[in-house]
Amino acid sequence: MSNPATPPGVDLLDQRPELIFPPDFLWGAATAAYQIEGAATEGGRTASIWDTFSHTEGRTVAGHTGDVACDHYHRMPADVRLMAELGLRSYRFSISWPRVQPGGSGPANQEGLDFYRRLVDELHAHGIEPWVTLYHWDLPQELEDAGGWPARDTANRFADYAALVHDALGDRVRYWTTLNEPWCSAFLGYGSGAHAPGRSAGVEAVRAGHHLMLGHGLATQALRAGRHAAEVGVTLNLYPVTPAGDSPGDADAARRIDGLANRFFLDPILRGRYPDDLVADLRPVSDFGHVRDEDLEIISSPLDLVGVNYYSRHVVAAPVEGAAPEKYWRAPSCWPGSESVRFVTRGVPVTDMDWEIDAPGLVETLRRVHEEYTDLPLYVTENGSAFVDAVVDGRVDDPDRLAYFDAHLRAAHEAISAGVPLRGYFAWSLMDNFEWAWGYTKRFGMVYVDYDSQLRVPKSSARWYAEVIRRNGLAAQ
Ligand code: FCB
Repeated sequence: MSNPATPPGVDLLDQRPELIFPPDFLWGAATAAYQIEGAATEGGRTASIWDTFSHTEGRTVAGHTGDVACDHYHRMPADVRLMAELGLRSYRFSISWPRVQPGGSGPANQEGLDFYRRLVDELHAHGIEPWVTLYHWDLPQELEDAGGWPARDTANRFADYAALVHDALGDRVRYWTTLNEPWCSAFLGYGSGAHAPGRSAGVEAVRAGHHLMLGHGLATQALRAGRHAAEVGVTLNLYPVTPAGDSPGDADAARRIDGLANRFFLDPILRGRYPDDLVADLRPVSDFGHVRDEDLEIISSPLDLVGVNYYSRHVVAAPVEGAAPEKYWRAPSCWPGSESVRFVTRGVPVTDMDWEIDAPGLVETLRRVHEEYTDLPLYVTENGSAFVDAVVDGRVDDPDRLAYFDAHLRAAHEAISAGVPLRGYFAWSLMDNFEWAWGYTKRFGMVYVDYDSQLRVPKSSARWYAEVIRRNGLAAQ
């Protein structure tokens, strides 16, 4: 006979978790300004490259734009309450550059800064640690018109902007990341053109990648020189790159793609130099004449942490005559100099993005950064998956997304057991949002967003994540 004070299932909940995370592990969720804020022309905000790009015909699926997005700019207090209900310990968001410094140079726009001050205050009021990303892809259009990231001066503009934001928010924000995924900004923005500003020239992508890192280094120095303390890092999207077979050609393909995807950024930032083999691979594309003597020292300015965004693995093979890449982000020119490398699909389960699900790749990636590059604390600043969701009787059940999070958190725990100083994990994303060139057609959120009514519905993965945070661990399988 069951005890009426003990509802069925309660002993299950009380079961000790099998995998406990370190005390103070920072459990969070992430978003980015252009993907959620909307209010594109309000409060003194001017256009970014993503406004221009999304308003250009044929650039995004169904012509979707971030004009309204999740209307977070107007719904921020309610969104923070939702975060608190889910028990988030931290929230990673980005600052919209053209909202706080319209046009990308000159004085701050107080109204824009005030929005972020209110957000940060609201987070603190709910015991949630704010985590600022300074650049999540929304370059002010005027700076693009002046040359964009392929132009050196954009790095200086970025450092000024970083100082301005830090001056305004540094008294209440401890964690700062300069760039989000410079690979995407450089190689999708200026290489394949699948992302804003939509330019397609390998040489520009290589220059953009360098100036993004230079901007990161200068911004890091600016933050350190500011009047508030800051823990500073950068977020890189890293992939394990595996050869499809045993041939030397496949191994060389993997070396090349690893160079462009990972070592292009890891080596300058954490070792102060470009890898020789990468420079040789890129020789037909760029002579690296844009690199000045002092740059690598600036780029490798000491950091306090490294953020890793992890989604999937690349499996690659030697070129075959006439083979064409099939996916937008694998378009030839996002791999300048190595366009003919083949990306192989293994037939394992994929997400709605067609990205292969590969949780062991997260262990591999975190171990590699720690074992080959740095002793710094690491954070998974993004990890998550898109799946098709449906609201049924007011609920959204998303077992595939839940399983993705579960598998990757087990992987994160395995990395910690292997000695990786992993200090936190941010789910991508808090809520469904504008998924760049895919518009609103891909849902990554733990919270469902009905874009007509702006109603938020926490999915079952959100409820599950709240329980993981409460336990600081995962239940036995
Ligand atoms: C990352 C981006 C993020 C989101 C996820 C799915 O590359 O940083 O904004 O688009 O992918």
